[in-house]
Amino acid sequence: MVTPVSSHPTILAPSLLAGDHANLAASAGSVEALGLKWLHVDIMDGHFVPNLTFGPATVAALRNAGNQMFFDTHLMLSEPHLYVEDFAKAGANLISIHIEPDYDHLATLTKIRELGCQCGIVLNPGTPADSILPLLEHVDLVLVMTVQPGFGGQSFQPAMIDKIAQLHQWRLEHNQNWRLEVDGGVDLDHARSCYAAGADTFVAGTAFYKAPDQANFAQKIQSLT
Ligand code: DX5
Ligand code: ZN
Repeated sequence: MVTPVSSHPTILAPSLLAGDHANLAASAGSVEALGLKWLHVDIMDGHFVPNLTFGPATVAALRNAGNQMFFDTHLMLSEPHLYVEDFAKAGANLISIHIEPDYDHLATLTKIRELGCQCGIVLNPGTPADSILPLLEHVDLVLVMTVQPGFGGQSFQPAMIDKIAQLHQWRLEHNQNWRLEVDGGVDLDHARSCYAAGADTFVAGTAFYKAPDQANFAQKIQSLT
């Protein structure tokens, strides 16, 4: 059986993690200047993942600098429920939380929506798709990590393609409408494989910021068919 691809328009969300940390507003601004709508913002706590990045003040500063993009905010935090309000107030549009830490996932997803944001659930490479199935009727996006989170520039894990296909199949069978996003080591070839499995939303850090022609890279991803 040929599985139809997603009904969502394909979106590229460049990851600011691979931008210039001494000039994040410029790195975000260069993405917006290309006409792209989404910016992926990676928030790390040095606990759930072994690295530290930005906080709500950085997100607010990007907004205050005039950036109007859709901030796709990926919280890699052990206790995300303590921070979703801060990120919503700072200007996040979508807030994604991981399934692995122990907290009330459904209450946190509900809270994100009450704060006026879209909500997403994220799985690490070692986490099976089954672990999030009961939550899928409550989310706007599912993020499948294709590397172990914590650092940019890692190698894409092809074994995640099956998980993407499994989740896409569930989406079709249950007539659900969330976006299916992939994050980690995604270049054009990997984006093609993920797209064929049902992904519609592509995070790219290194591949985007290091591309010799970013506009061309973005155009190729967003015209995947
Ligand atoms: C990894 C982050 C990713 C990272 C992707 O923990 O969640 O968003 O920025 O970077 P690349 O595309 O370089 O793997
Ligand atoms: Zn991310």
